[in-house]
Amino acid sequence: MNKQQKMNPVPPVRIFSITNKLRGIFKKLYYAFVPANMAVFEKSQGFWTAKAISVACELNLAEILGDEKRSVNEIAKKASADASALYRLMRALAGEGIFKETETGYFKNTHLSNALKEQPGHLKNMIMHQLNSTNWEVVNEMKHSVVSGENAAQKLFGTDIFTHLENTPEKNALYNKAMTETSRLSSTSMVAAYSFRNINTLVDLGGGEGMLLYAILQKNEKLKGVLFDLSHVVTTAAQLAKDYDVEKRVQIIPGSFFKDKLPVSDAYLLKNILHAFDDETCTTLLKKVHNALDQKGKILVIETVIGEDNKYEFGKMFDLQMLIGTENGKERTKNEFRSIFETAGFRLNRVIKTVSPFCIVEGVKK
Ligand SMILES: C[S@@+](CC[C@H](N)C(=O)[O-])C[C@H]1O[C@@H](n2cnc3c(N)ncnc32)[C@H](O)[C@@H]1O
Repeated sequence: MNKQQKMNPVPPVRIFSITNKLRGIFKKLYYAFVPANMAVFEKSQGFWTAKAISVACELNLAEILGDEKRSVNEIAKKASADASALYRLMRALAGEGIFKETETGYFKNTHLSNALKEQPGHLKNMIMHQLNSTNWEVVNEMKHSVVSGENAAQKLFGTDIFTHLENTPEKNALYNKAMTETSRLSSTSMVAAYSFRNINTLVDLGGGEGMLLYAILQKNEKLKGVLFDLSHVVTTAAQLAKDYDVEKRVQIIPGSFFKDKLPVSDAYLLKNILHAFDDETCTTLLKKVHNALDQKGKILVIETVIGEDNKYEFGKMFDLQMLIGTENGKERTKNEFRSIFETAGFRLNRVIKTVSPFCIVEGVKK
């Protein structure tokens, strides 16, 4: 079994939502007793921790520590950092449970800092994409988006985010790795939540490097897959298919889902694609998928589905990302999905919850 095949076990959806509810209750209780000014200040200070974690990733501190206790001088030498400044960073993170100072000036990894090592399931590149690269720049322009309603990426780079990534290969490589990591994380929950048994060929539209598709193919030995994404994105996809041992059942098509013809199939998967576009653009794309789908075909949209209430949800924060990084993109409620599905000729069949923040929205032809 190769590295990619190892998947973390997934807790049942019911247990996961009970834990989430408990977290909400404890948070409410805590903030009921902390003075309000301190509470909002504390919430706003999350950026210290976030940035410190991303610096620890960039300097490979968890890898340098490995399984040993090491002096900060030794770590600093290996990380090409200033020992005294590095000590302050690691001491601050130790207070968050990330690294442990065993005796003055000596650190070892904890179960949290171990998660920063490049090993199956890590999200190191996603953390760096968010906090050291493209996304950090875009987040800094959130006010522009809120005041003008416009895409901050357009203001910053003079172009949409995907064209900007295409023009900056270093950032693009980091972004693709980040997407693959999050897909790897959520693929276990997707594979556990949905049966692909009655599907012959699954097209993953905008499937990035193919990680999710390959994980699905691994679990469904008769299924064939088509990976469709922009040419500069699929450059590593063939190698990854080999790593997953599914290359014989995969076709990789470089292309634009707006400009190029889509392959005919009995199932389409779109994970985190529609949220980057306004309703009209989504409808155009969905109509194209509708034309390429068999009469009894299925469309599976994997995205957050926002509740109509004011409870905390990852999707509501993720929606801010769509506000700043896309041209009128947004996370959608079930009714909003139903509406774009209907306009494109689909009926929303069901919404399947998973243990990840993402749901599977299943549509069939009307
Ligand atoms: C947010 S990522 C999602 C990637 C993958 N589905 C996942 O969830 O990990 C959006 C993907 O859409 C692709 N994409 C954007 N515009 C596209 C277009 N016009 N044609 C094909 N793919 C496109 C991007 O290259 C990127 O891989």
